Amino acid sequence: MKIAVLPGDGIGQEIIPQAVKALKAAGGHLPLDLNQGEIGWTSVVASGEALPQSTIDLIDRSDAILFGAIGGPEYEDWKRKNPRGSPLLRLRQDMKLFANYRPITLFPELINASPIKAELIQGLDLLIIRELNGDIYFGEPRGMVSDTPGQRESINTMRYTEAQIRQVAHAGFKAARRRRKKLCSVDKANVLETMLLWRDVVTEVGREYPDVELTHLFVDAAAMELIRRPTHFDVIVTGNMFGDILSDEAAMLTGSLGMLPSASIGTGAKGLFEPIHGSAPDIAGKDIANPLAAILSAALMLRYGFELEEEAQRIEGAVRQVLARGLRTGDIMEKGATRVGTQEMGEAVAKA
Ligand code: NAI
Ligand code: MG
Repeated sequence: MKIAVLPGDGIGQEIIPQAVKALKAAGGHLPLDLNQGEIGWTSVVASGEALPQSTIDLIDRSDAILFGAIGGPEYEDWKRKNPRGSPLLRLRQDMKLFANYRPITLFPELINASPIKAELIQGLDLLIIRELNGDIYFGEPRGMVSDTPGQRESINTMRYTEAQIRQVAHAGFKAARRRRKKLCSVDKANVLETMLLWRDVVTEVGREYPDVELTHLFVDAAAMELIRRPTHFDVIVTGNMFGDILSDEAAMLTGSLGMLPSASIGTGAKGLFEPIHGSAPDIAGKDIANPLAAILSAALMLRYGFELEEEAQRIEGAVRQVLARGLRTGDIMEKGATRVGTQEMGEAVAKA
């Protein structure tokens, strides 16, 4: 079990070590072979490259990737001067990771940590599948059209091929089939050509899954419904940009961005597992970041990357146990709970 461990930047350096502790605790009997690599700003500082060849080689010889986050002010500055594209987008594309699974489940222990009324989120269990290889993040043409001062103009292109939509639509229907058999496709087919194609293709694919109930929502309505009636959703399938935005919104239903893991799965066997949050420069280096999203990403890696359901559940069960004991990082803090730092939370989970 070769695992590339890429903590990246900011809180990535703090949370990934906690996920590694959990992995070792739950999988001590497994042939875990963990190898750390550099990516992002940390890597630029070390070698001048955001995605060095050594990391690419490490990924090539690994079975799965455990990823933290990249980014931060210095990095964004550097990237503008070195526009070679994001290493994470490159990894997603090179590894053909076309579907990003973001399970949005509420730990009952955190029902009062969520800013949303308890009765709205009781039993919350939805899955957002975000397409990851297309859309406005990759579409060409892109870039500066005019740099005349006062008349500067820039473009990005929302672009999808039928094959890309078909692929992620199948992932959506298959996931729904394993769950409550409801799939909601989110688009903006009322104004965007790309999204008209999206809706047509998803509808077509749906004919192969008569047992799954397919509905469609425009993204603006979906944003509202996620707050109004989040438990009505089972699986949501959507494009790259809408999925990015809706999943951060949905994260807040569960209490914090720091709670949500994700799995990026492709046509190959090799998956990438990462918390949905970024490098959080505002809280980096203070030992206050919530490591649970990273720890739960390690659980997803065991489940989807290695089909080790029992070990995955061991990690998830430990997280629940620790939450039930009242341990909380700042982002999920509530009255009467015990406030702990990143490391203390990580150690408590590993021990549990
Ligand atoms: P962010 O997700 O890093 O942070 C948003 C807010 O949530 C911040 O207030 C942060 O303190 C809080 N937060 C995030 N994770 C947390 C955790 N585990 N525990 C407690 N609080 C947490 O998004 P932001 O600030 O928009 O981006 C910061 C940098 O991260 C940018 O450079 C951005 O490009 C990058 N980024 C990287 C991602 C990745 O590597 N996959 C994903 C999203 C952003
Ligand atoms: Mg995002």
